[in-house]
Amino acid sequence: MSKIFPVGGVAVILGSSGGIGKAIRDNLVNQKIFFDVISASRETSPNVDLKSERSIIDLAEAIRQRDREVRLVVDATGLLHNENIFPEKNLRSLTQEALLENFLVNAIGPVLCLKHLSPLFPRVGKSVFVSLSARVGSVEDNQLGGWYSYRASKAALNQLIKTASIELARGLPDHVSVAVHPGTVATKLSKPFTKAGLRLLTPDEAAAKLWKVIENLERSDTGKFFDNDKRSIPW
Ligand SMILES: NC(=O)c1ccc[n+]([C@@H]2O[C@H](COP(=O)([O-])OP(=O)(O)OC[C@H]3O[C@@H](n4cnc5c(N)ncnc54)[C@H](OP(=O)(O)O)[C@@H]3O)[C@@H](O)[C@H]2O)c1
Repeated sequence: MSKIFPVGGVAVILGSSGGIGKAIRDNLVNQKIFFDVISASRETSPNVDLKSERSIIDLAEAIRQRDREVRLVVDATGLLHNENIFPEKNLRSLTQEALLENFLVNAIGPVLCLKHLSPLFPRVGKSVFVSLSARVGSVEDNQLGGWYSYRASKAALNQLIKTASIELARGLPDHVSVAVHPGTVATKLSKPFTKAGLRLLTPDEAAAKLWKVIENLERSDTGKFFDNDKRSIPW
């Protein structure tokens, strides 16, 4: 398999309204590597709401009707906090609601996107599904504890990607599905947790690094969990 994406295909960015998703979209549009870059978020039409499998099915159908080969899907969605949810410091703070919400958005929604979008990948030539995971989803790397729901939902995401990669390799020999940690990036998601003096990547810097990872992916990388320098992160 060539590392180069065949000409004429489209890229799809899920979570194009987010800090990293928007920067990845802009980076790909500027590079003109793909025939088109399709943005999908809760605000686009068709929209994608990870908590609604129907919306994911409708998005896949709308993309299929464009009759272009889908070569790249970047899932840049994710949840760490919202008006009701904040990462837990201890067992006492766990709630069923926060656990469910994290799993729905960080693990179940993304793998349903892979379920419905993977039939659009061509059988031959490079195609890639990248889901933005997080280093804190590594079980082995967990030194600090806390952040139960987010950590566990990202660990579940990693397992789902790994499992799907084994199945997809049978029918799509040139396909690569990976989980990637984007680095610590200055976005709405990281804002409440960034300490003064900590060097954060800008979304544009993160997008440029992610593109380098994607560009260098080869068949043997499928099912892996990488950092933004394409170094493997332990499960
Ligand atoms: N920033 C970091 O330092 C960092 C570090 C490690 C990993 N990550 C991972 O990188 C990814 C992107 O994070 P970010 O920093 O760019 O965060 P962000 O700016 O908060 O963007 C999150 C994106 O997820 C979307 N989203 C949330 N819930 C959704 C739902 N139910 N349905 C559809 N879309 C939904 C948001 O859409 P709306 O605009 O509609 O809310 C937004 O597009 C996440 O998976 C995150 O875990 C980030």
